[in-house]
Amino acid sequence: MALWGQPAVRALRLWGPGVHIICDGKGGYLGDIGGRRPIAFSAGVSGIFGNGGSSKKEKLSLQDVAELIRARACQRVVVMAGAGISTPSGIPDFRSPGSGYYSNLQQYDVPYPEAIFELSFFLYNPKPFLSLAKKLYPGNYRPNVTHYFLRLLHDKGQLLRLYTQNIDGLERASGIPASKLVEAHGSFASATCTVCRATAPGEDFWADVLGDRVPHCPVCGGVRKPDIVFFGEPLPDRFLLHVVDFPMADLLLILGTSLQVEPFASLSEAVRSSVPRLLMNRDMVGSLAWCPRSRDVVQLGDLVHSVERLVELLGWTEDMQDLVQRETGKLPGCDA
Ligand code: OAD
Ligand code: ZN
Repeated sequence: MALWGQPAVRALRLWGPGVHIICDGKGGYLGDIGGRRPIAFSAGVSGIFGNGGSSKKEKLSLQDVAELIRARACQRVVVMAGAGISTPSGIPDFRSPGSGYYSNLQQYDVPYPEAIFELSFFLYNPKPFLSLAKKLYPGNYRPNVTHYFLRLLHDKGQLLRLYTQNIDGLERASGIPASKLVEAHGSFASATCTVCRATAPGEDFWADVLGDRVPHCPVCGGVRKPDIVFFGEPLPDRFLLHVVDFPMADLLLILGTSLQVEPFASLSEAVRSSVPRLLMNRDMVGSLAWCPRSRDVVQLGDLVHSVERLVELLGWTEDMQDLVQRETGKLPGCDA
């Protein structure tokens, strides 16, 4: 099932440079290339947040956002996350010059970086992707402070949904339940035969990958691919939850993503214009740069530092320490 559920739009190259977003210059979302609009909700929080287009409103700060969360004025927080939330766990992101995967793919024998996530290339030579997959094997990495902050937000009952582009499974590993997650670019939890479409549990796939074998389908002999969304492939059905989640959100957190990949990136435009959007990232990205809104808050720099600052402003430092101690004690290979 495609993101937008429209065959005409499904034909778009989802991972290309981007769906054309039409912006009215005041932060209002007019529609995407297909001319569709998000559902309009008249939510009660508008009293708290005011009219996002009003020039009289003062700019919000990180402290203001913390206050909105702490005072529970924001109870339906939607999060958009990318590879930058996992770099502190030791997993490179994609596009950071020098350290990102796309700068270091010589070892993988691909003709150009994005080929590693292209179906046609995978069918021609699955080995580069399988080597990358092996590196991402769940258990090799642990959640970090950002994952646990999001878990805490859930524990406090304020996380409506976490939309992640990451395929490392660290959101699940931090204890956020599957019902709160939308793994927009799929996961390694299951695999599908590229020929007959027979599905298999992720464990079968991993047994082959860890043994340096190309996983083959026992039914037809075709190559099995984990259910990671490759360029041009439709997103998982759960992605459609955005149609209800984003108009209901009363705060949007955008963490560690370059917002360069569609259709995910356009979700940043799908919250109501009165809803604050907090970007915490190393650099300014996406619609927050080219179509800013009056209620945007931008916290540039290292994510761990920014999250720790937010946690402190929230007065959640002790809760975080307890959570991290409890959760790291549960992880395999931990003596605590
Ligand atoms: P990118 O690599 O494009 O962007 C990561 C962003 O996080 C960049 O803006 C970095 O500057 C920032 N960043 C990295 N580490 C950080 C840190 N410690 N503190 C603050 N900021 C940090 O990754 P995504 O946006 O997630 O597809 O990429 C989207 C998709 O492109 C991925 O899902 C992937 C790829 O094709 C699949 O995996 C299927
Ligand atoms: Zn098969």
